[in-house]
Amino acid sequence: MQRLNRQCLHAADPGPSSARIGFVRSRWILLGWIGVLPVSAAPAFIGDRACASCHPSQWQRQSVSRHAKALSPINDSPLPALLVDRPLRERGGIAYEYEVVDEGLQVTVHKDGAAVSAVLEWTFGGGAQGLTPVGRIGGKYFEHRVSYYPERGNPAITIGHPLGLLRKARDGLGLLQDGRTISKCFGCHATGVEGTPAGPNLSAMQPGIRCERCHGAGGEHAQSAQAEGDGRRRYIGNPGRMNARKITEMCGDCHRLPEPGMLTRTPEKIDPFNVRFQPMGLMASRCFSRSQSLSCITCHDPHEDARKDAGFYVEKCLACHSDAAETSMDCGRQEQRNCLPCHMPRASPSPHLFFTDHRIRVQ
Ligand code: HEC
Ligand code: HEC
Ligand code: HEC
Ligand code: HEC
Ligand code: HEC
Ligand code: HEC
Ligand code: HEC
Repeated sequence: MQRLNRQCLHAADPGPSSARIGFVRSRWILLGWIGVLPVSAAPAFIGDRACASCHPSQWQRQSVSRHAKALSPINDSPLPALLVDRPLRERGGIAYEYEVVDEGLQVTVHKDGAAVSAVLEWTFGGGAQGLTPVGRIGGKYFEHRVSYYPERGNPAITIGHPLGLLRKARDGLGLLQDGRTISKCFGCHATGVEGTPAGPNLSAMQPGIRCERCHGAGGEHAQSAQAEGDGRRRYIGNPGRMNARKITEMCGDCHRLPEPGMLTRTPEKIDPFNVRFQPMGLMASRCFSRSQSLSCITCHDPHEDARKDAGFYVEKCLACHSDAAETSMDCGRQEQRNCLPCHMPRASPSPHLFFTDHRIRVQ
């Protein structure tokens, strides 16, 4: 039996966790874009496939990104293959069994001769750090106690869940989430979700972070793009037209922002978990505040996963820090070409989570 020992993040912790730093509540869709739509038009979500024929390059890359996989129906995710037919035990005589059914993945938890079952419907997470199942009991959403963490290569207790001995089989199903909390989960991991205090309205949802989560509903745009001569651009948001701060704030809608007025120079020292929230670190960097042009999309294509080759990022640094660049500053160590280990170190705030500290700095 695996000893499951993970630190909390999703359920219990809504974000940056110091007394001085809050987190900006997520909006379900980027309301800023509504302003560019005709007042009378209700935003019409048309789904990513509708964009594919006219924007094949973005569509092909984005469809295989972790953004697109941030939420999936559980039986379309890797979880059934990882959990079915592999009996799982936890200290205190708890045993978990999984079976694929029409509605999802059925989990049965056994303890002391008692057994309870429920159906897990959704997998949260694209698999870079973890996969967490979510289901419903009696109409209420719950986050399952067991997640899968690729880094350790086996199931483990979902971060945020109690690590102590469980008293009854029911506790093995996991933690109930109130309507607001679970609305936020879906709001950050999917497209076209309407959050309500009672729970998310999923009737117009597309699982995963797809085109219209960042660009706004595309119905009007697609229609007018077909009608020749119409001002197509008016009907779709293009974050590329915003300034660096606004772009960073858009990404920070999910990746988290420091609360306005609460910007600290050293977020990772206040709480090591803040390295998880890249915008907090980046916005505390002089590269960001002094350049006024550095944003998340300087180093990340919003339609792709993060590049793994250091050389790609070093080129970005050198665009601003080289003899030829305007902001040329002298790094005594620059002859060691990979800037990242010194200026953007990897950090592991808990044993199985790994992030890149986005506060670009001299220690
Ligand atoms: C019928 C073809 C068509 C469809 C469908 C379509 N687009 Fe476009 N889109 C265009 C054209 C044409 C332009 C203008 C390109 C230009 O002017 O350079 C454009 C421009 C854009 C831009 C840039 C706007 C700007 O301000 O520069 C974005 C972003 C965009 N589309 C996103 C989408 C998304 C998201 C979808 C799906 C919801 C979509 N498009 C569906 C044809 C289409
Ligand atoms: C709707 C919420 C949301 C928005 C908006 C968003 N992200 Fe993400 N992003 C996520 C989630 C959730 C994940 C984790 C997916 C997973 O489980 O692997 C993620 C993962 C990533 C990753 C890591 C992908 C990998 O290589 O594993 C990068 C890089 C990233 N986002 C950059 C951005 C940038 C840049 C923007 C702004 C243009 C942005 N994100 C906007 C929610 C969002
Ligand atoms: C404010 C937006 C936001 C909310 C709310 C949110 N997430 Fe996430 N989630 C993210 C982002 C961004 C990432 C990727 C970066 C990271 O791993 O922290 C992520 C990553 C994940 C992952 C990948 C594994 C991991 O731990 O990194 C899982 C699983 C996950 N979230 C589940 C959930 C669940 C379940 C809820 C609700 C209880 C939830 N999230 C609420 C934005 C959000
Ligand atoms: C995580 C947010 C996010 C998602 C999801 C996303 N985009 Fe974008 N998109 C952006 C940003 C940011 C830019 C601006 C990039 C730039 O200017 O470098 C952009 C730019 C574009 C452009 C304009 C490109 C240009 O050359 O000006 C098109 C077209 C586009 N996206 C289509 C799509 C389509 C189609 C999808 C879905 C398959 C999609 N996007 C999904 C954030 C996103
Ligand atoms: C868009 C331009 C831009 C990019 C890209 C950029 N920087 Fe900077 N960086 C700046 C500016 C501007 C300053 C502040 C200069 C000043 O204070 O006069 C700065 C400051 C710094 C400092 C000093 C920080 C401090 O707190 O003393 C370091 C170290 C640094 N950058 C490293 C990097 C590295 C490494 C990269 C790539 C990962 C990078 N920068 C990418 C513009 C940039
Ligand atoms: C100066 C370049 C640079 C900028 C700007 C930047 N990143 Fe990154 N990002 C990186 C590097 C380097 C990695 C690590 C890539 C790897 O795994 O090798 C990374 C990785 C990530 C990851 C994967 C998880 C992690 O922490 O390793 C996410 C998510 C992410 N970035 C989001 C963002 C967001 C959101 C922004 C804007 C606030 C942003 N990044 C701005 C360089 C940058
Ligand atoms: C071996 C670690 C190391 C590497 C690799 C490294 N640096 Fe530095 N860098 C430092 C240290 C330490 C400082 C503080 C000043 C010093 O001692 O030279 C610094 C200072 C800086 C400064 C600020 C200089 C000032 O005047 O305040 C910039 C800008 C910078 N580095 C950019 C880069 C870039 C760009 C790269 C990659 C091409 C890079 N560094 C590679 C360790 C490193």
